[in-house]
Formats: sequence, C-alpha cells, structure tokens
Amino acid sequence: MRKQIAAANWKMNLSQSEADTLLNELLQTDHSLAAHQEAIFAVPAIYIHQATSTLAGKQNVFVAAQNCHQKSNGAYTGEISAPMFASVGVKHIVLGHSERREYFAESDALLAEKVNAVLAIDSTPIFCCGEPLEIREAGTQNSFVEAQLKNSLFHLSAEQIIKVVIAYEPIWAIGTGKTASSEQAQEIHAYIRSVFATKYGQSIADQISILYGGSVKAANAKELFSQPDVDGGLVGGASLIASEFAAIINALK
Ligand code: PGA
Repeated sequence: MRKQIAAANWKMNLSQSEADTLLNELLQTDHSLAAHQEAIFAVPAIYIHQATSTLAGKQNVFVAAQNCHQKSNGAYTGEISAPMFASVGVKHIVLGHSERREYFAESDALLAEKVNAVLAIDSTPIFCCGEPLEIREAGTQNSFVEAQLKNSLFHLSAEQIIKVVIAYEPIWAIGTGKTASSEQAQEIHAYIRSVFATKYGQSIADQISILYGGSVKAANAKELFSQPDVDGGLVGGASLIASEFAAIINALK
C-alpha cells in the first residue's frame, strides 16, 4: 500500500511554549500509526530542533520544513537551504504552498529548482498544487493543476518522482472552512494520478502519495481519506489542536 500521511502545516503560528504544549498534548492523545502510515509536522524552522527532540524515538513521525532556498549555501541573508535542514535531521520539506506562490511570488520554474535541491539531499519534497476559485468556477482545474505538475516535476526521472509526495490544495478551501467534497477530491486526485501514469507509467503513479489539503478537520478526515486516491491530508488550522490532529491521524487508511 502507498504511504498514508497526516501532515501538519503549522504555518507562522505558535510561540515556543505553545509549540511545546501542543506537541506534548499530542503525545498524550490516543493515536497510532501502522507501518504504512506517517505523521509529519511542518513546523516553523526555529522550532525544528525542539520538535525533533520532543518527538524523538516516535515511529513513523517526522519533523519537516515549510520551505527552503533553492541554492545550497551562499549570500542569501535570512534564507535556509535544503542541506542545512538535512544537517539537523529534516527528511521532508513542503514546497510550493499556495501562500508561498502568492505572497513570495514562487513560480513553477523556481519550484522545479527547489524540488531538485530537496531531492539532492535525499529528502522528500511535499509538493503543493491547487487552483484558485475562479479556475474552479470555470471548470478548468484539471489543466491548471496539470500545468503546475508538468512545469515543476516532469524533468524528474521515474526513480526521483516516486520520492515526491503531492499535496493537492484547492486555494478556495484553504483556511476558509470550505472543504472540497470527497467526490471533488477523489476526482482531481485520480486525474493527478493519471497525469503521472501517462508520463511515468501506471505502476510508478500508483506509488505516489497524493494528500488533500484545505480545511481538513476531525469531522471530515475519515470521509476524505476513504477515497481511493486520497492518501491523507496536509492540515493547517486543525493541526494546531492536539485532539483534532490526533483524530486526523486515526482517520488514515
Ligand atoms: P487549512 O490549511 O487546513 O487551515 O485549510 C491547509 C494548508 O494550507 O496547508
């Protein structure tokens, strides 16, 4: 079975002591991970060390970065590179979140470079894609998302693409309380898988985990994750509440 993943995206939230409280509350919740399941915490970079030590020894639990620079080192004040994250034990880096695309003008071409940077240090890019509301209303979401995937990922070899996790996040569902219905999620996840199947073959496409993101919470996770092509979620708001995120972990297939 493909990996099923509950990924928390804390974004730019929580003080150090709030982060500590949340992680410790989570450790006390009743959640469990099977061998094919993972919980990933994309925390603000400044808390990576803290989160890693709090979660140390937990099976199938990983601490991730929310972004990295495309270059490995140099005069880029304020930036953090993929090899730097690797040096502190980070194995997953979220790339191309719609907030980064919008507020930091991250283009498909830049994201292709970042994907290369993450794969070069043998880590997993959690590559985000997804359409804005006007594209969904025009009914052209499939071709919009397909272009994002092609432009940033299609230069990869088959061996590389199976290391990438996709997070489909319709922008109109992020932080809005509006979730795509499980049918809408399944439809576009299946389409995304077919895009990879056409390029890399079905058996490669079948190994790629495709997460859904956009107002995932305890109340809707089970139904979303029960769809055949939905392999878990990338969770913002609900990942800041221990009981919610524990229930989301427990909703994984
Ligand atoms: P949300 O955010 O769960 O708060 O909608 C998801 C995300 O942006 O990754």
